[in-house]
Amino acid sequence: MFKQDKIIIFDTTLRDGEQAPGATMNLEEKLAVAKMLEKMGVDVIEAGFPVASEGDFHAVNEIAKIVKNSVVCGLARARENDIRKAAEAIKPAARSRIHTFIATSKIHMEYKLKMDEKQVLSAITDSVSLAKSLSDEVDWSCEDGTRTELDFLYKAIETAIKAGAGVINIPDTVGYTTPEEYFELITNIKNNVSNIDKAIISTHCHNDLGLAVANSLSAVRAGARQVECTINGIGERAGNAALEEIVMAIKTRNDFYNFTTNIDTTLISRASKLVSKATSFPVQYNKAIVGANAFAHESGIHQDGMLKNRNTYEIMTPESIGLEKSSLVLGKHSGRAAFKDRLNQLGYDLGHNALESAFARFKDLADRKKEILDEDIISLVHDGSSLEKAKYQFVDMQITTAANTSEVVLKVNIDDKEMTAAVISNNGPVDAIFKGIKNLIPHDAILELYQISAVTGGTDSQATATVRLRNGDKTITCSASDLNVLTASALAYINCLNKLK
Ligand code: KIV
Ligand code: ZN
Repeated sequence: MFKQDKIIIFDTTLRDGEQAPGATMNLEEKLAVAKMLEKMGVDVIEAGFPVASEGDFHAVNEIAKIVKNSVVCGLARARENDIRKAAEAIKPAARSRIHTFIATSKIHMEYKLKMDEKQVLSAITDSVSLAKSLSDEVDWSCEDGTRTELDFLYKAIETAIKAGAGVINIPDTVGYTTPEEYFELITNIKNNVSNIDKAIISTHCHNDLGLAVANSLSAVRAGARQVECTINGIGERAGNAALEEIVMAIKTRNDFYNFTTNIDTTLISRASKLVSKATSFPVQYNKAIVGANAFAHESGIHQDGMLKNRNTYEIMTPESIGLEKSSLVLGKHSGRAAFKDRLNQLGYDLGHNALESAFARFKDLADRKKEILDEDIISLVHDGSSLEKAKYQFVDMQITTAANTSEVVLKVNIDDKEMTAAVISNNGPVDAIFKGIKNLIPHDAILELYQISAVTGGTDSQATATVRLRNGDKTITCSASDLNVLTASALAYINCLNKLK
C-alpha cells in the first residue's frame, strides 16, 4: 500500500497540446480553455511558449491576467531571451512558473544541440538560476530524459536543483519507455541524486506506444508527485498522457493508487468538448472516459446486467465526469440570462458584442432545433467567433443532387462583394461545393482531411464538418456546425481558407 498523497496536475493542453499539427487555437479559445482548467482545479496551467511568436506571448500574458487559482507557467529553452520573454509574459500571474528545458540524451546533445556534457551542465546552471531570479517557481526538464545515460542524468538533475529548480520533470519525449522501466528510472533518480529531497519529481509522457498514461501512473507509484498531461491526450504526434484518464484512474482505483488530485471530475466532459471544439480535433468514439461510447452499453447481456445492478459493467458513473442530463435544457423560449449562465458554466465569458451575436445565432438555431444542448452551444460560439471578421463569408447555396450528378450554385462574399460559382460534379455534392469554393477562392492548399460527425444524437442533430488544409509547412484544421450537413461542410472549408489567409 502507498502513502496517501496529493498529485499535482500540470496541464499542458495550451502548450504541448497546441503543438499538435493543426491544433492551433485563437486567443478567445485559449482563454476559454484556461478558465475551464482553472475551474476544474488544475494546479499548474502551462499556457504556452512565449518566445515562439507574438501571438503565443500575448496569449500567455492574457491568461496570466485572468487566472487566479492555478499557477500560470510559460515554457522556455535554456536561452536568456526565451527565459526573459517567459518571465515577462507570466508576470501578471498570482503565482507564476517558468518551465525551462534542455536535452540531455547523447543523440540530442550531439546532433541537435551540438553541445558536450560540460556545456549542457553550464547551460542548466545559467538558465535555471536566471529563471529562479525572475519567477516564483522553476520547473526544469531534461528533454529526452528516458534515453539519457543515467550518470549524466543524475549530474544534470543535481545541477538544476542546486541552481534553484523546485520541480524536476523527466520527459519521455519520444514515447519510448515502458511502465516497468520508467518506475525503475524514477526509483534510481530518488536513490542516486543527492539533493532530490529538495525537489518534486514530475512525469511528462508521450503516447507513441500507447503507454503514456500507464507510464505516468507507474512514475507516480515510484514517487513522482506531479503529472504533466493534456485534455483528450492531445499533443505532438500520438499525443500526451490524457488528464482525464490519469485523474479517473486515481479516483476509480483509489484502493490501489492511494492518491488524491484537486480536480473536480464533474467538469471533465465539458472540458473535453471545449478542447475538442477549440482545436477541431474530434474525440475518438471509444476513447477512455470521454469518448461517446465510453458509457454506452450495447450488447443484450451487458444491458441486462446494467438493469439488474449498474456495478456489473460500470466501474465509474457517467455523472462522475459530468455527463448527467442537463437539468436546464435551453430552447427557443430561453432568454439571454439563461443563455449567458450556460455559457459561463461552459467556461466562456463573452464581451457584450460577442454575447449578443452568439445569442442571435442561438435564437436562430432554437427556431430550427427543439432542444439546444451544451455541444450545440459550444459549436455556435466557436463557429461565430471565426466568422465575424472573416474575409470570405458563406452566403448561401442551391444544390441539386441525383445518384450520379450533383450541381451546386454557391454564393460567397469576398471582401463584402458577393460572388457566385456554378459547378457540376460526378463525385457527389461535397466535391461540387469544394470545387465551387476553389473556383471563387483560388489557392494551392491541399485538402488533408474532411470528416463529418453528429454534434448530438438524433436526426435533428447538427453536423460538424472538419476540414484540414496544408499549405507548405502550415497546417490548419477548422470545423463548423449546422443542421444542414452540406452547409457545415462549406463553412468549415471557408473557415480554413480564412485562417490560412
Ligand atoms: O516532450 C518533451 O520533452 C517536452 C519538453 C519541452 C518538456 O515537451
Ligand atoms: Zn512533450
